[in-house]
Amino acid sequence: MNSAEIRQQFLDFFASRQHQVVPSAPLVVKDDPTLMFINSGMAPFKDYFLGNKPAPYKRVADTQKCLRVSGKHNDLEEVGYDTYHHTMFEMLGNWSFGNYFKKEALAWAWELLTEVYQLPKDRLYVSVFQGDASENLEKDQDAYDIWKTMIPEERILMGSKKDNFWEMGDTGPCGPCSEIHIDLRSEEERAKVPGKDLVNNDHPQVVEIWNNVFMEFNRLADGSLVKLPAQHVDTGMGFERLCMAIQGKQSNYDTDVFQPLIQFVAQEAGVTYGENEKTDIAIRVMSDHIRAIAFAIADGQLPSNNKAGYVIRRILRRAVRYGFTFLDFKKPFLYKLAAVLADQMENVFPELKQQLSFVQRVIEEEENAFLRTLDNGLKRLDALEDKFRENNNTIDGRTAFELYDTFGFPLDLTALIAREKGLQVDEAGFTVEMEQQKNRSRNASATEQSDWVILQPDVANEFIGYDSDTAVSHIVRYRQVKSKSKNEYHLVLDKTPFYAESGGQVGDTGYLISDTEQVEVLDTKKENDLILHITAKLPQNVEAAFRSNVDAERRNFIRKNHSATHLLHAALRKVLGEHVQQRGSLVNEKLLRFDFSHFAKVEEAQLREVEHIVNQRIREAIPLEEQRNVPIAAAKEMGAMALFGEKYGEFVRVIAFDRNHSVELCGGIHVLNTGNIGYFKIVSESSVAAGVRRIEAVTAKVAEDYVQQQLNELHAVREVLATQSNVSGAVQKLQEDNKALQKQLEQHELKQLTGLKDSLVQKARQLDSGVHFVAQQVEVSNADYLKKLAFDMRQSLDNLVLILAAEIDDKPQIAVMLSDNLVSDKHLNASQMVRELAKEIKGGGGGQPFYATAGGKDVAGLQAVPAKALELVTSLLNKNE
Ligand code: SER
Repeated sequence: MNSAEIRQQFLDFFASRQHQVVPSAPLVVKDDPTLMFINSGMAPFKDYFLGNKPAPYKRVADTQKCLRVSGKHNDLEEVGYDTYHHTMFEMLGNWSFGNYFKKEALAWAWELLTEVYQLPKDRLYVSVFQGDASENLEKDQDAYDIWKTMIPEERILMGSKKDNFWEMGDTGPCGPCSEIHIDLRSEEERAKVPGKDLVNNDHPQVVEIWNNVFMEFNRLADGSLVKLPAQHVDTGMGFERLCMAIQGKQSNYDTDVFQPLIQFVAQEAGVTYGENEKTDIAIRVMSDHIRAIAFAIADGQLPSNNKAGYVIRRILRRAVRYGFTFLDFKKPFLYKLAAVLADQMENVFPELKQQLSFVQRVIEEEENAFLRTLDNGLKRLDALEDKFRENNNTIDGRTAFELYDTFGFPLDLTALIAREKGLQVDEAGFTVEMEQQKNRSRNASATEQSDWVILQPDVANEFIGYDSDTAVSHIVRYRQVKSKSKNEYHLVLDKTPFYAESGGQVGDTGYLISDTEQVEVLDTKKENDLILHITAKLPQNVEAAFRSNVDAERRNFIRKNHSATHLLHAALRKVLGEHVQQRGSLVNEKLLRFDFSHFAKVEEAQLREVEHIVNQRIREAIPLEEQRNVPIAAAKEMGAMALFGEKYGEFVRVIAFDRNHSVELCGGIHVLNTGNIGYFKIVSESSVAAGVRRIEAVTAKVAEDYVQQQLNELHAVREVLATQSNVSGAVQKLQEDNKALQKQLEQHELKQLTGLKDSLVQKARQLDSGVHFVAQQVEVSNADYLKKLAFDMRQSLDNLVLILAAEIDDKPQIAVMLSDNLVSDKHLNASQMVRELAKEIKGGGGGQPFYATAGGKDVAGLQAVPAKALELVTSLLNKNE
């Protein structure tokens, strides 16, 4: 069976058992502060487990893209070294939301593995939770008894909390689990060591393939467990491992999931996979990491310098540097690999193929940037080499950390380079620096979040803000969040008009007003499907009825900007082409910011055209067509574009302003008629990343003010120029006049300079030694002229000792010029002389033996220079005689 068939069989098996097959959620998590990326099949369903939201289906099956590269589940450092951990992997899952429980789940798991996939029963082991006294949890006797009916007892292993109690993160839904492991070793090896001794022991051929979690608890922030309102099943089967087991391979990388990637890398590197441990690891790293990188970008996460973007950047850099060090890839390569992956995954996750050129461009640009950084880091190491040699042939911890932090060099890379140079690395010192930095950021971001205080369980937080900006509300739960810089409360209401920040639109602000008090809502945010009203204080009576009022004036500015964003998107596609895709947006009361894929600067004329189209639509006063609960297929038929990386339910909201012009899937707040936007003005166009442009624009009164301000400036310019028409012509003329005058001035100054030179030649004194001595304070307008004067003098007089003192741009300067023969025969030195003379002007300087200059601080000292110079020269000549 190839991998596509294996995946399909799984989905068909559960579909025939009344499971709804749903698509994978995007990898990047948007509304959950506890998670950056989907790290398990259950993460997108968290709200159903917690009872925050009813599940649309009681039974679901899917294959979910997962990323385990941060937080509680992080396998990154293993990847490449072993053969069965991955950054991105697919998790096949079947789900019961308060429907079936252990009996069905375990029986189906066994049936699918042994009858459909025909995995040999005598190679399978199962594990059951043994209980945990410290948590007051009992042994999972039910699971044990169910397994006993299907499998000999010696194949049922008891497991501790570490292996058999599954938790998504520090808080959240959790429960005991039962895992299925497979022993893929040869008969011979199996005869030597029984498989059950190797279960959960990091053996590459005795691996867990399926985990059945029985979600019963919620882990609270204080560490305690509370029972969930219902019992659920969450199962997760590692797809790549399953393929290894069914295809009879020894490594995930030998299956058809990875082979196309492996072979492509090996071929491009000119090596054979399987011949050398070092290059094999690098090939595996690249073949694995490209999946995480490409799918994260396709799902909307660009590499960047913070948070989720930084995680992706780090993965990309890890891949680049393995390729760089072990496969000699000195030029961008990963972006090519992305194309292989896109072809391979086209039928399961088409989003990559659909955006391939964009994803490739982003990757290539990142690769280029990192290769340059690597190069700089290597140069830095070279430059410090002597220092390391003096330091006992050791790269100190601070430098190793700097390389890590600034240049992205992991410690092992630094160690490798060090070895090549016969150096070692102070690893302990590195660790100290690393810890210090971690502490710094921990202290900066440490927040304490209390558990929810539930006032009314099972009450949904209904959003009524599309229809009204006021409501009568009650608090159903609240919690406190404290950190160094803030102390705030999160209130959830039974009914709310407040829009929670999402889809680029900022959260509403306003007030909750009861008979006795008024509490300001500072912001509104989402956590999964909960709408959090953020306040600085907790109402004294949390059980009161509140009139909840959104700041309607602010919201009206926001809605204008949001609708204008839709019109802008449509106009961009019209003017620039259909490749324009939204890559990010921000809509607040001041402006709208729209990021989109486009590969070149948007020309001025194009911007004007876009602006014109948007304003045309505004003038047409197109009424809003809002439809809620449209089946997603119908919405797409209407021409609504789904954004990549956005998680859509089966029913969506569609916002259209003229169905032939702008139709979008959108949850935001809009104007009832485009005429309300009033006026639209683009204020900037720029680049934010490879292949991504950004437009900022303003509407309505803000646009009016912006234009007025520009006009005011123009008026001011007109006034200064005293002209009402053709301002640019007048400015141009001014510039030309200015240039001509500048030229005249220069010529004039040069003439003066010649005159000055002639007069200095006249003034030259002949000293006894036959030296022509000139020391004079002069007036010149810049340093170049001073230099020119000195050199012209040298042409005009032989045996010359020239000292010039001048005030240039309010600062004193001295120049000393000597004829060559005085340097060679009389041992005079202009540098030394100028340094001595510079004392008069409280300064210093230097230069060559025949010509040197100095600057200083004390202009008043200039007049003493000529006399001092004579004294100095006389004494030097006497001394050197
Ligand atoms: N949540 C469990 C896991 O990720 C089973 O899906 O292992």
